[in-house]
Amino acid sequence: MNWQGAIAGGVMMMAPWTGFAQQQQPQPPLQVVGDAIPQALTATPGDPVRGRALVASRQLGLCLLCHSGPIPEERFQGNLAPDLAGAGSRWSEGQLRLRIADAQRLNPASLMPAYYPSEGLVRVGTAWQGKPIMNAQQIEDVVAFLRTLRN
Ligand code: HEC
Repeated sequence: MNWQGAIAGGVMMMAPWTGFAQQQQPQPPLQVVGDAIPQALTATPGDPVRGRALVASRQLGLCLLCHSGPIPEERFQGNLAPDLAGAGSRWSEGQLRLRIADAQRLNPASLMPAYYPSEGLVRVGTAWQGKPIMNAQQIEDVVAFLRTLRN
């Protein structure tokens, strides 16, 4: 095979591989029941330590832009939204999951971003459309952390 054939062959190889990778990581649909998503989005349970890091993160979670919470090492915290302290007592696991995944489903005027929007997942479009801010495992990690915030 000459070099052109090798490149063409490589492209042929990549397309099915890409499809295969997508099949390996299906986006589970959001199963909303009332004001909650009772079912976990992943088989792997959420990790509260990773969830805490996501909530504190100024790149991904940005939760402390609007919320305050029991994360003392973060000096600048928001006051636009309820304190996250006690969230695990106020809400069930499923209620927390829907509030993080798609707050606008409960309150269309909410300022809170939908981190895993139900609609975005079925929208077909350019690369960034329909791509959630967090993946399903990160949603589970954040929920697991919030569950530890009891009062
Ligand atoms: C841009 C502002 C903003 C950001 C960023 C944001 N939230 Fe919120 N959040 C709100 C507001 C405002 C509410 C009050 C309810 C509403 O308006 O939807 C809320 C509600 C909540 C609630 C329910 C509050 C209660 O009554 O106990 C939880 C839990 C929550 N947010 C967690 C998070 C987490 C975790 C993150 C980051 C992954 C986050 N929020 C990011 C604005 C924000």
